[in-house]
Amino acid sequence: MVERRFPDGFLWGCATAAHQVEGNNHNCDWWEFEQRGGILTGDSADPACDHYRRFREDFALLRQLHNNAHRFSVEWSRIEPEEGRFDAAQIAHYREVLAELRAQGMAPMVTLHHFTSPLWFARRGGWAAAGAPQAFLRFVRRVAAELGDLVAFWCTINEPNIYAYQGWMGGEFPPGRRGDLLGMVRVLANLSRAHEQAVAELHRLTPGVPVGLAHHEWLMMPADPRRRRDRLAARVAQGLMDGWPVRGRLRPVVEAPSDYIGLNHYSGSLVTPTRPWSGFVRRFNPPGLPTSDFGWPLQPQWLRVCLDRLRAANRPIYVTENGVATVDDRVRVRFLRGALEALWKSIADGVPVRGYFHWTSHDNFEWAHGYSMRFGLIAVDLATQRRTIKPSGRLYARVAERNALPALAA
Ligand code: FCB
Repeated sequence: MVERRFPDGFLWGCATAAHQVEGNNHNCDWWEFEQRGGILTGDSADPACDHYRRFREDFALLRQLHNNAHRFSVEWSRIEPEEGRFDAAQIAHYREVLAELRAQGMAPMVTLHHFTSPLWFARRGGWAAAGAPQAFLRFVRRVAAELGDLVAFWCTINEPNIYAYQGWMGGEFPPGRRGDLLGMVRVLANLSRAHEQAVAELHRLTPGVPVGLAHHEWLMMPADPRRRRDRLAARVAQGLMDGWPVRGRLRPVVEAPSDYIGLNHYSGSLVTPTRPWSGFVRRFNPPGLPTSDFGWPLQPQWLRVCLDRLRAANRPIYVTENGVATVDDRVRVRFLRGALEALWKSIADGVPVRGYFHWTSHDNFEWAHGYSMRFGLIAVDLATQRRTIKPSGRLYARVAERNALPALAA
């Protein structure tokens, strides 16, 4: 029997975001968006998983899953409820959260911006406004000073590309703008500046704590790899998906300064050119593949393709998110098994992957889709807040405990 081991010290964790799990988050743009009817299902992010109060019990469950790391976000609107005023009680709360993770043997990866912004910040134009990076930097400095000693990894910004697109082009995130291409470009430029400045500040304030960001990699593949125009269309689509403006030029996000690459990967599309008036490229699902409840094609092996492409970046890689929306946990079990095999093969090929954070631990508030999309390894009964580990959670626990995939017959 051959045991397929992961490197010693490999990090096994889950990822969450404050607004999706905490509950009672009433001072951020997503709450206002919810009041304006922005949540397609009509669900409310309050109380979500009530994790703000139940974090100790939740971390105990993650220990049962043998996690040795955890990625979560601190909520800017709690810590800085008004511009320049920091809330000592909220900072103390996050110190408790970090201390509890440490006490339970999990290395904390702290995301500083995961889709939510304080209302005061959103009201003066949010990430599209001049001065946004400076405002974020003041928050980053305070968090580093107050919490930095307990943090194992910083993740500055979650998915700049998805955030900017959904807020300014697709309208699914606040501020709910549609077709505002200029706004999206401004947001991306500000996010890229904010990230660069945050990296420098975090290095200065918390030397030795690795800093990165979580990049969403949606794979763009040629509809027919033998056709040159399909290959070209895929390259262009991928370039637009993966880039942000740096001093006026489109640069790949993964080339931004960072100590590690954070990869969020879920799915991909086939791409072929089309008429300019229909957007130049057409994306569609590969025929024959199963899809998640979001309609995203499920092919866990694509994780290996993404990881392989990142090899050139020559930095440690953490899979900061990977998972599947499904009410049928058997689908998640199959996907997870495939994804973990892809992960193992990438490492065996020499790609420097150092950790994997599954999205997500608990079924939670999936942004505009409310509770309709279930990504969790742990089910949450919304009426009672009862938690139940799913079979996929038990599978993940077995792999994390042994730091190896189940043995194959030799
Ligand atoms: C990612 C987000 C995360 C969650 C998953 C499903 O784009 O970072 O918060 O919504 O998708």
